[in-house]
Amino acid sequence: MQGLKSSTVPGGPQEAVFHARGLAKNYIMGEVVVHALHDVDLDLFERELVVILGPSGSGKSTLLNILGGLDVPTSGDVVFRDHRLTGASANELTTFRREHVGFVFQFYNLIPSLTARENVALVTDIASAPADPVEMLALVGLRDRVDHFPSQLSGGEQQRVAIARAIAKRPDVLLCDEPTGALDAATGRVVLEALAGANREFGTTTVIITHNAAIAAMADRVVTMGSGTISSIATNQERRSAAEIEW
Ligand SMILES: Nc1ncnc2c1ncn2[C@@H]1O[C@H](COP(=O)(O)OP(=O)(O)OP(=O)(O)O)[C@@H](O)[C@H]1O
Ligand SMILES: [Mg+2]
Repeated sequence: MQGLKSSTVPGGPQEAVFHARGLAKNYIMGEVVVHALHDVDLDLFERELVVILGPSGSGKSTLLNILGGLDVPTSGDVVFRDHRLTGASANELTTFRREHVGFVFQFYNLIPSLTARENVALVTDIASAPADPVEMLALVGLRDRVDHFPSQLSGGEQQRVAIARAIAKRPDVLLCDEPTGALDAATGRVVLEALAGANREFGTTTVIITHNAAIAAMADRVVTMGSGTISSIATNQERRSAAEIEW
């Protein structure tokens, strides 16, 4: 793996990839309004790895889904480079997601009838400057599993196929919602190494939501959410590798 810079200095020379200002998201449930998100200001910079922590219901997924163009805020602004996401049409958001965003979720969403290589190729077939599927599988440590079907892979291996698929289109940003939520600690570490490796190799801005505070040691910055807003943003002086993390 080539040694691109493994850490960043947020607020330093990097460009902000996302600017979010004054984000709020309300859900109206009959008579009740759920304030899922309020007063969220956040910039995400090139090359950085950000971990988002916070209790269940604190708005982590809502924020990630808005950044990724899967959902729209009730008010506030999100700008991705020179694209204003707020006010974009559904078609424009679909194009934004296809061209710029890789998603990794807790459940891998692989197609059971396709091999690992074919699952990754589904994405590279429609991307404008895709990476080679086999190279991406090798990057996540699955070179000798490319012709396996999902049912022939462990949970951690399936999640690494999902990561290979997400990074194969060379997205500008990789958004991961509890990528290790369904995995044991040892397998989770391997999956986190794959994410950190992709972040180092391609410099892809990477956001990882987790319930596991130990994972924060891997990040350049740690965003903590509580009750629908950001309660703190901390910068780590150095990043730990996933192998060094105890949980
Ligand atoms: N579609 C929806 N309709 C109504 N309320 C919703 C909806 N989606 C989320 N919420 C509410 O918004 C709040 C934030 O939810 P969100 O899923 O962002 O939390 P989270 O931090 O990701 O939690 P978890 O760690 O459990 O995944 C919660 O109170 C949730 O009940
Ligand atoms: Mg969530």
